[in-house]
Amino acid sequence: MTTAIEPTGEACGAYVTGIDLNKPLDDAVVRELRAAWLEHHVLIFPDQVMDTDDLERFSLSFGPFGEDPFIKPIEGRKHVIAIRREADETSRIFADVWHTDWSFQVIPPAGTCLMGVDIPPTGGDTLFANQHLALQQMSPELRTRLEKKLGVHSAVLGYSRGGTFTKEREDRSMDIESSEEALKKQLHPLIRKHPESGKEGIFGTARAYLIGIDGMEDDAAMDLLLELHKWQTQEQFVYRHKWQNNMLVMWDNRSVLHRATGGYEGHRRELFRTTVADSREKYLAHA
Ligand code: OGA
Ligand code: MN
Repeated sequence: MTTAIEPTGEACGAYVTGIDLNKPLDDAVVRELRAAWLEHHVLIFPDQVMDTDDLERFSLSFGPFGEDPFIKPIEGRKHVIAIRREADETSRIFADVWHTDWSFQVIPPAGTCLMGVDIPPTGGDTLFANQHLALQQMSPELRTRLEKKLGVHSAVLGYSRGGTFTKEREDRSMDIESSEEALKKQLHPLIRKHPESGKEGIFGTARAYLIGIDGMEDDAAMDLLLELHKWQTQEQFVYRHKWQNNMLVMWDNRSVLHRATGGYEGHRRELFRTTVADSREKYLAHA
């Protein structure tokens, strides 16, 4: 089988075909996929009939599992979580704000794998915004105001008691538990080098985990972060991903933002997710 990698032609993303993810991948293929992943930021594997074992094995070929706080894993697995919404559910759509996964961690995940289990006939697209491109096209004026600044990341808005996505706020079928852990803060440069490729990008965004700027007064920091948010999420940086059953997507959490969308009222949607940890060595190499 020959692997083919075909860019979406949008701001990021490439389709990968000619590969069977229900078998172990040999090292040369993993290297090829990893290079494509760093180049295109989002890899899309259509027509894969995979089970949870296959998902775990695929994920582990790119690094150890990352730690997933707040969301309980599915039964019988330690590292697989379900992004789930029942057909009759009325709660707010999970992850419908731009974010990068777990950016409040000391070493945020390198990537996330999401496998379509139950895909609605319409809606439920996932949006990705290329943050290398967003930085490249940024005005020098805005860039000067961000340069050398450290962003304050925290899960407080989503996962503290009564946070946006917790069960105390609204009844939902996803297994989300709030925790005091959500109040912790972690700094990361707003403009940072990608831990693996060394290319510069914008890391994180407001309205999700980025809640302030180190050493800056709250209002001024939020004004700047909201201006940045507007820039980062413009259409020209966005790829809109449409799901199908039997599809797996792996994104680079260090170079794109992503968000869920609705539009599938009355239909069930379920995807299984694993998180790929970043390696400490790679992370520190560009710190
Ligand atoms: C996630 C996520 C988006 C979606 O799983 O981390 O943000 O479209 N999902 O479900
Ligand atoms: Mn997410």
